Order: sequence, then structure tokens, then C-alpha cells
Amino acid sequence: MKIIGTGRAHPAKVVTNAMLEGFLDTSDEWIRTRTGITERRLISSERLEDLATEASLKAIEDAGLTPADIDYIICSNVVNEYITPALSCIVQGAIGAKCACIDINGACSGFIYALDMADDRIRSGKARNILVLAAEEPTRMVDWEDRALCVLFGDGAGAVVVSGGDGLIGSRLTTQSKLDCLHYVRRLEPTPYITKEEYSAPMYMNGKEVFKTAVLSSSRDIKVLLDKAGLKPSDIKYYILHQANMRIIEAIANWLKLDLEHFPTNVERCGNTSSASIPLLLDELARSGKLQKGDKILMSAFGAGFTTGACIIEWTK
Ligand code: UT7
Repeated sequence: MKIIGTGRAHPAKVVTNAMLEGFLDTSDEWIRTRTGITERRLISSERLEDLATEASLKAIEDAGLTPADIDYIICSNVVNEYITPALSCIVQGAIGAKCACIDINGACSGFIYALDMADDRIRSGKARNILVLAAEEPTRMVDWEDRALCVLFGDGAGAVVVSGGDGLIGSRLTTQSKLDCLHYVRRLEPTPYITKEEYSAPMYMNGKEVFKTAVLSSSRDIKVLLDKAGLKPSDIKYYILHQANMRIIEAIANWLKLDLEHFPTNVERCGNTSSASIPLLLDELARSGKLQKGDKILMSAFGAGFTTGACIIEWTK
């Protein structure tokens, strides 16, 4: 497959660290030095499906296609207001496409898993143009009295359109079942027969454990992919890493002995937007003219599960 179009949509509401100081025992200094975040964009009056629709239409237009040309939609999403139907089905109706749709939940790695699935579908000849979308509202999973978590996240939607081509140089997906690291639990509707204990609770994250696992696993994925492709770290123009924490990005750049200019970021302006972080950043780079035909890009993500996903793409647009 190759990427032929990109798009993104952010919520209108900008929340700065100073605004959080107004109701949380936190400081701009703590948030900036521990995470690199200075502000984030939060859903307020919008619905996630509206952002997802806007990002999708922009990606389809950028690809020079119309919604009727899309023959499959894969949406990476952890939560939204609808448990069912899938967000991809809602977006299909909103953009006026007619194809089959599916959502996947690979947490923050979901966009890479979705790209990998799209590649398989194109290779098998089952689809020609696939909309791969990541739409996330992680700010709705955290307790807004928990300063350790609510300051970290932001909302948004990023999308790409892929079609047949030689743009995917390699990919790697891994999963280790690790519920104690990061989870979010909702109680389902009761029935007269439920006898087990159930509960609802906001997101739980062991930040230090996620931090260590993220640096180790992303570094390992990057090394495996570069070795397999016969590439040196400096052969990659941009490392588009999951935007969770500036210190994680710096640790990986250090480990690769590369200058930070190879590591574009949006975490400082958007916070951690879960699986939307990579397509949001990719669209920003593409639309600002920073990607040239032939550039090699490495995308790498990690998230709840514990899942990791990484791939090397050649920019062919
Ligand atoms: O996409 C999901 C993946 N998630 C991640 O990648 C997160 C990975 N982890 C991290 O980014 C970092 O672990 C955090 C940014 C979440 C936390 O940074 P840390 O350096 O591990 O800090 P900590 O949790 O050890 O907290 C240090 C101190 C604590 O106070 P004491 O116990 O030392 O008195 C916290 O209570 O900082 C305190 N603290 C805060 N202080 C001011 C925690 N949150 C805040 C806050 N403002 N917002």
C-alpha cells in the first residue's frame, strides 16, 4: 500500500496549563518539565464523529478521490459516546460512502494496527482505496480531579487514504497482556442473573511502568524494523512517534543517537491524543510541505494492552 491522502481535525477548545492551575493542584512548570505539554485541544461542544468526519473528508479530498471511491473504512478508536454501532459506520453515513466498515481498539497503537490491516486487504485484492482513521477522546476516560492523569490528554481525529503501491517498507506489531499497567473499566447494564462484583472507574495508569515499557519497546521495534530493512537510523527523515510524553521521545532519540530535528512533535500543543497522535502529526507535516517524495518515515506507537506497533513508510505523494 501507499498513503495517497491525509487529513485531521482538532476540537476548538484550547486548554492551557495555566487554565488547569485554576482548579487543580498543579503548575505549568510541573506539566512542561515532566511531559513537554503546554496546551491541549479538548472536545467541548463537538461530537467525536464530527471530528472524525472532518478528518476523513479532508484526507479523501487530498487523495483526489470522492467518498464513493472508498471501498473500506477502518477506524481506530478506544471510546466514544456510542458503544455500538462502530464509529466507522457513523462516519460512513456522514461522508456518504457505501463500503464495509470496521472499528478496532488497539489503544494508542491502533492507527499502526489499522494501517497494517489495510495493507493486507489491499495485497489480497479485496479493496482498492481504504480510509484509515483514528479518532479519540481520551479526555473522557480520566478523572478530572486526578492531576496525575487529566493533564496528559487531548482529543482529535487524523485520517489517511491508502491504495495499492510500494509505500510500506516494513511493519511490526506486538502485544503483551498487561492489565495492571493501564486500564479503564465500565460497568455494563445489570441483568437479573449477574452475581459477580462489577465496577466503573476512571482510567488507571502506572505512569512510571508505562514510561519504561514504552521506551524499551519502541526502541526495540525501531531497531528490528531498521535491521530488517537494511537501513541506518539516519536513513529515516522523520520518526513519527506516539505523542505521549516529550521525555519518552527524547529518550528514544538519544538511544538512536539522532538529533531531535528528526523527531517532529505535536504533544506540546495537543497533549496525548491516543491513536490519533500519529496521523495528526503526519497530516501536519504533509500539509506544511515537510515531506518529499522518497522520504522514509518511521512511525512507532505503544499503548494499553500492552500493544506496540511500528512501520517504515516511503512517502510516495
Ligand atoms: O498513551 C498512554 C501512554 N502513557 C504514557 O506514555 C505515560 C508515561 N508516563 C509518563 O509520562 C510519566 O510517568 C508521567 C508524566 C505520567 C508522570 O511523571 P513522573 O516523573 O513519573 O512523575 P510521578 O508520577 O512519579 O510523580 C512525581 C510527583 C508526585 O508527587 P510526590 O509523590 O513526589 O510528592 C506526584 O504526586 O509529582 C506529583 N504529580 C504532580 N504534581 C503536579 C503528579 N501529577 C502532577 C501534576 N502536577 N499534574
